[in-house]
Amino acid sequence: MAGILNNVLSSSSSSCVNLLIVIILLLVVSEGSRSASGQQLSRGYYSKTCPKVFSTVRSVVKAAVAKEKRMGASLLRLHFHDCFVQGCDGSILLDDTSSFTGEKTALPNNNSVRGFNVVDDIKSKVESVCPGVVSCADILTIAARDSVDILGGPKWDVKVGRRDSRRASLSAANSGVIPPPTSTLSNLINRFQARGLSAKDMVVLSGAHTIGQARCTLFRNRIYNETNIDTSFARTRQANCPRPNGSGDNNLAVLDVKTPTKFDNSYYKNLLNKKGLLHSDQILYNNGSTDSFIESYSKNPKAFANDFVTAMIKMGDISPLTGSNGEIRKNCRRAN
Ligand code: HEM
Ligand SMILES: *[C@@H]1O[C@H](CO)[C@@H](O)[C@H](O)[C@H]1NC(C)=O
Ligand SMILES: *[C@@H]1O[C@H](CO)[C@@H](O)[C@H](O)[C@H]1NC(C)=O
Ligand SMILES: *[C@@H]1O[C@H](CO)[C@@H](O)[C@H](O)[C@H]1NC(C)=O
Ligand SMILES: *[C@@H]1O[C@H](CO)[C@@H](O)[C@H](O)[C@H]1NC(C)=O
Repeated sequence: MAGILNNVLSSSSSSCVNLLIVIILLLVVSEGSRSASGQQLSRGYYSKTCPKVFSTVRSVVKAAVAKEKRMGASLLRLHFHDCFVQGCDGSILLDDTSSFTGEKTALPNNNSVRGFNVVDDIKSKVESVCPGVVSCADILTIAARDSVDILGGPKWDVKVGRRDSRRASLSAANSGVIPPPTSTLSNLINRFQARGLSAKDMVVLSGAHTIGQARCTLFRNRIYNETNIDTSFARTRQANCPRPNGSGDNNLAVLDVKTPTKFDNSYYKNLLNKKGLLHSDQILYNNGSTDSFIESYSKNPKAFANDFVTAMIKMGDISPLTGSNGEIRKNCRRAN
């Protein structure tokens, strides 16, 4: 860096131009996340070691989503639940063993997160083109990006270079760092703040609920007891989610009543109409501090797309393992 700066400084004549170039170089260098080891994630991390990684991941995601659209939602959520516990390090993918219990049975994950077989499929295809090179954490990041794109959402370049953790944390996954759907607005804001994400990032990332489904047990109280809900929407949802009498807990409903498998901004339009499925969805538009974001994203799909991309990149930057930290797992389900 210093050498480049010296060259630039000695070869240019105007000091004004010099200053401009220095500023641009500093901006370029400061872009990207710096992890504890000082190394950064970057777009080109695999350009020499695994140039086919992006096309390989994409083809498997594409086939999986063609088979079942919901899989795109499930892969996107896996990345979120990975990043919020210990950082984006593939910890959520580790299976339980006799010596430790991973994150899969944690409250927010048990009977809920899915897509592990697709991740295995991606990993084995990637291993066959460049063995031992690409981390499972990066596979989740790329698969989440591809899922959004394939379902009609924005496209963006992801930064890669994450390594995989050797451990997972059931207690961290259970500690509330992934907020429950019963959360208050301030809890949602605080939990995202704790991961370096703003209230606006939280609102825009919640827009991921424009795709995917949720279980009756997680929205039952809302559709029977809450008042900030459209009456006919509540009735429709009640038809497949009976009162708590032991039945129907796992019955599914789409998170976006309008366009359930399309990645668009209708999630926000639903909130304007009091048709948010989860308590944690509607609380974002309930005479509170985030109302203006909802109004704006409901009217402006481009702003939603742009801000979603920015927030996804920010989420993908949460505490990555780089350098000699962690490892490149051979199998995403266990440490090497
Ligand atoms: C703001 C706090 C959030 C809460 C309280 C929350 C809560 C939930 C709940 C309760 C479900 C249904 C789970 C089930 O039925 O088992 C769900 C599904 C989902 N969530 Fe979130 N979520 C939040 C943020 C996010 C974020 C940041 C993303 C991604 C960027 C995301 C993506 C998804 C997706 C795509 C699904 C559907 C998954 C599928 O169909 O398999 N959520 N969420
Ligand atoms: C996870 O779900 C399974 C199957 O429904 C259940 O038997 C188990 O008790 C749950 N585990 C935890 C930790 O909640
Ligand atoms: C509605 O709220 C009451 C009082 O908090 C609770 O006992 C009941 O279980 C709730 N109903 C549903 C369907 O969640
Ligand atoms: C459970 O509740 C639903 C809806 O309220 C009702 O239709 C059904 O008959 C109930 N089942 C039992 C076993 O009580
Ligand atoms: C805000 O409160 C007013 C008055 O109670 C109510 O009519 C309105 O629907 C509320 N708006 C939202 C976004 O909840």
